[in-house]
Amino acid sequence: MALLEDKVALITGTGGGQGRVAALTFAREGARVVGCDIKAEGNEETVELVRRAGGEMTGLSPVDLTSPEQAERFVEDAAAAYGGFDIVYNNAAIQYFGPMPDYSIDAWRATIAGELDIPFFVSKFAWPHLVRRGGGVIINIASVAGVIAGRVPPMIAHSAANAGVIAMTRQLALEGAEHGIRAVAINPGPILTPASDRDLGDNQQMRAAITDKTLLKRFGRPEEVVELAAFLASDRATYITGTDITVDGGSSAW
Ligand SMILES: NC(=O)c1ccc[n+]([C@@H]2O[C@H](COP(=O)([O-])OP(=O)(O)OC[C@H]3O[C@@H](n4cnc5c(N)ncnc54)[C@H](O)[C@@H]3O)[C@@H](O)[C@H]2O)c1
Repeated sequence: MALLEDKVALITGTGGGQGRVAALTFAREGARVVGCDIKAEGNEETVELVRRAGGEMTGLSPVDLTSPEQAERFVEDAAAAYGGFDIVYNNAAIQYFGPMPDYSIDAWRATIAGELDIPFFVSKFAWPHLVRRGGGVIINIASVAGVIAGRVPPMIAHSAANAGVIAMTRQLALEGAEHGIRAVAINPGPILTPASDRDLGDNQQMRAAITDKTLLKRFGRPEEVVELAAFLASDRATYITGTDITVDGGSSAW
């Protein structure tokens, strides 16, 4: 039996990067996937890729999850698509980097909204559906920046927001336990996605500074995060809740 057979998974940010790989992987493992993104084109591509691979996915886009109204509409439409869901995979995020003290108030607010509001809004609106279902699991993609400080690039708001996501995950687990809801955070280190690859361009100095901090001396691949998420979302991980797991090639080990 596939890992996620009979599960319905709501995944945010499926328009590219890790979210696209999550949609493909969860569908491969037997889940029916409902995904959304602010980028409609990328999300439609993902739906197409999942279906071409023989999986089942419903795509809803464009959805701006920093809007509570749009987040609620997404969750309600997702619940209607397959009569509820078992997995909430909070992957979507947007963040802005820059050094102190010039880091702007606007960048701060946009990062807190893009990294902390989004998983809170989606979890809040998903919660009654999970309770009605008799339980489920919330996977929050945080960052190793929520655990240790990072020099490259400077990341004041990204660190604060993701420490918030990790703390929020513990609280969701505490309040969810009596309803059969588990909550787990994953803290990726530097993961190379088409978007981050493009942003880094040929800045070899920055690439080297990032990978030198890992023990494995390389970027991670989206699959290396998503395979863990699939396990955590499955019934093989039923005793794992209220914690965070780091997938960073050892960058936080020293
Ligand atoms: N790539 C890394 O090195 C890295 C490291 C640590 C943590 N993370 C986390 O991993 C997760 C996935 O990131 P990724 O690397 O795939 O980056 P990404 O930018 O490729 O993916 C994020 C997705 O979220 C979508 N999104 C952004 N704002 C949105 C909004 N308001 N409403 C709906 N969708 C929105 C984007 O369009 C995009 O498709 C994020 O939570 C990110 O913070 C990434």
